[in-house]
Amino acid sequence: MKKIVFYSALGMLIGGLAASCSNKLTTTTNTMTTGNVTGSAKGIEQADWGEADGKKVYLYTLTNANGVQVKISNYGGTITSWTTPDNKGNNSSIVLGFDQLQGYLDKPPYFGATIGRYGNRIANGKFSLEGNNYQLATNDGKNHLHGGSKGFDKVVWDANLLVKNYPSLTLNYLSKDGEEGYPGNLKVTVTFTLSDDNEVTIDYTAETDKATPVNLTNHSYFNLTGDISNTILNHSLMINASRYTPVDETLIPTGELKSVKGTPFDFTKATTVGARIDQVQGGYDHNWVLNRKGKSMDLVATLSDPMSGRTLQVYTAEPGLQFYSGNFLDGSITTGGKAINKHSAMCLETQHFPDSPNKTNFPTTTLRPGEKYGTTTKYKVMVNK
Ligand code: GLA
Repeated sequence: MKKIVFYSALGMLIGGLAASCSNKLTTTTNTMTTGNVTGSAKGIEQADWGEADGKKVYLYTLTNANGVQVKISNYGGTITSWTTPDNKGNNSSIVLGFDQLQGYLDKPPYFGATIGRYGNRIANGKFSLEGNNYQLATNDGKNHLHGGSKGFDKVVWDANLLVKNYPSLTLNYLSKDGEEGYPGNLKVTVTFTLSDDNEVTIDYTAETDKATPVNLTNHSYFNLTGDISNTILNHSLMINASRYTPVDETLIPTGELKSVKGTPFDFTKATTVGARIDQVQGGYDHNWVLNRKGKSMDLVATLSDPMSGRTLQVYTAEPGLQFYSGNFLDGSITTGGKAINKHSAMCLETQHFPDSPNKTNFPTTTLRPGEKYGTTTKYKVMVNK
């Protein structure tokens, strides 16, 4: 017990030092290893990564005892890579990303980013709350998508590093009243933790001073083969959901919660992504109504790739999951010299349902002053050797 307390205190000290270093950093790289803090976590490394909006941008590398590494930037709260071994022991990243900040400043479609204030779409960018009508930025045709023209994916967050049991990075952002049309000053924190079980846990919290919709998620694009020359169509997917939310032609839910039974949306048993994708106009880009209740996390989806032997599990406390099969990727963006083509990667975005502010039968996304928004999602990678 004593040991744990001591380690935690030391961890906090290192965290505090790291936080103050991050404000004063002038050198290109500042490395902090936890060494004897826990004996298991190798630590966090911070590197200068450029500038945006006149603020310093950093790239953080979290490394666990198995040598698994996750890189995260305070630009957009973005996971830029997650390097894990495959069944032959070769390391490669299972998420889409760039190794330079410029790739993100060029506005890719949300690669690895933290999404807010509202993940996914709000019809016509309109909603009313407590008698007031609000008009949000419309950045997806006539609809509002992923927080607007400059959502949480395109802002510079403040960072705090902490090494407790595992390396962990906390990002803070104050989204001001009126930003992208949203009411209220919203204080947001997102904490990423990498465990020795190869899990990335993302904890979100938020508080507001006016009633506002909030729906935070992460937009990592996965390709478990570790090579985007392969599509994800051979990945096998299980989603623990008996229903999904059908959408109109602009991807706004109709409001119906429809059974997946006998449809290409039935992933209750593991099925390859490509098996029925041709029966879904445009490909998969839908919200599944998860078979879960309550505030604790449950296993909601499992994605496996036979080639690399990698399996990804998704745990969440959210009611929904957006499975997006990378339909809009069209080869126009490249990374590591390779084109990012249609179905090169896919997203499993944990969330409240799209357009909830306009759908009274969907779980509410309203956060009021005095309330605390808190939700957690965990991605875990395993390999079958
Ligand atoms: C989400 C949406 C998609 C698309 C991608 C980004 O997953 O549901 O329709 O906008 O983001 O391209």
